[in-house]
Amino acid sequence: MTPSISPLDPPNSDSKATIPKSDDGALTSFDPKKLEYFHTQYPDYIAEEVDLPLWIDGVDTTYAPFIPTSTRRVLLALEMAHLTSEDKVLDVGSGDGRFCYAAVTFFGAQKAMGIECEQDLIEKSTELAQDLVDQGRISFERADLTNWRESSTMKSKEWSVIVVFLSPEGGDDMEEWLVQEFERGVRIVALVFDLKQLKGLHCSVEDSQEGIWIYEKQK
Ligand SMILES: C[S@@+](CC[C@H](N)C(=O)[O-])C[C@H]1O[C@@H](n2cnc3c(N)ncnc32)[C@H](O)[C@@H]1O
Repeated sequence: MTPSISPLDPPNSDSKATIPKSDDGALTSFDPKKLEYFHTQYPDYIAEEVDLPLWIDGVDTTYAPFIPTSTRRVLLALEMAHLTSEDKVLDVGSGDGRFCYAAVTFFGAQKAMGIECEQDLIEKSTELAQDLVDQGRISFERADLTNWRESSTMKSKEWSVIVVFLSPEGGDDMEEWLVQEFERGVRIVALVFDLKQLKGLHCSVEDSQEGIWIYEKQK
C-alpha cells in the first residue's frame, strides 16, 4: 500500500489578503496570529488519507518521504535560527515549500529557494507561494539532491541559511557540502534528525523535544 497524506483543513484562499503583524510589530517574535494565518495556507497533514503522496511511484525520494514540518515548528525553527531580512534561505528537500514561504512572509528574508525532486510538490509549492514566486522572492527547482556536486544552486555562495529535513543518510551523503557551507558561516537548520554525526558542525541551539537543531559557526 502506498502511504499518503492529506490536509487536515482545506487552505482558505480568502485569508491570503492580509498578513497579520505581531502586536509589537516585531517580525521575528512568535505570534499566534501568524501561526493561524500560516496554518490556513499550509495546513498540517494526517496519515491514512489520500491527497499528496508520501512516495510517488517511479521517483526516487532517496533521502526522505514528504512529511511536512508543522506550521508551528516551521516558525519556531526559523525563530531559533534568528532569521532576518538579510537572509537567503535554501531548503534542501522543500516539500510543499512551507519553509520558503514562512522565511519570506514572516521573517522578511530576502529570498528563499526550495529544491525538491517531486514534480507534484514543485507545482503545489509554486501555487501556494504564487505571489512571492511572481515577485522573484521565492523559487523552486526540481532536482535530485543526490547530484549535489553538479548543482549550481547548491554550489552557489549566496545562501546564509540551509534547512535540512532529510534522513540521516541524506546528511551523510551531503556531509562535504554541509560542512563546507557551515565553515563559511551558513546557519544550518536540521529537523527531526540531528546532524551530530557530522563532526565538522557545531550545534549552537537545540530543542530536541521539538526536533530542531541549529548549527552555527562560533564567531
Ligand atoms: C521530510 S520532507 C521535508 C519537507 C519540508 N522541508 C518540510 O520541512 O516541511 C523531505 C522532502 O525531501 C524530498 N526529497 C527526498 N529525497 C530527495 C532527493 N534526493 N532530491 C530532492 N528532494 C528530495 C522529499 O520529496 C520530501 O518532500
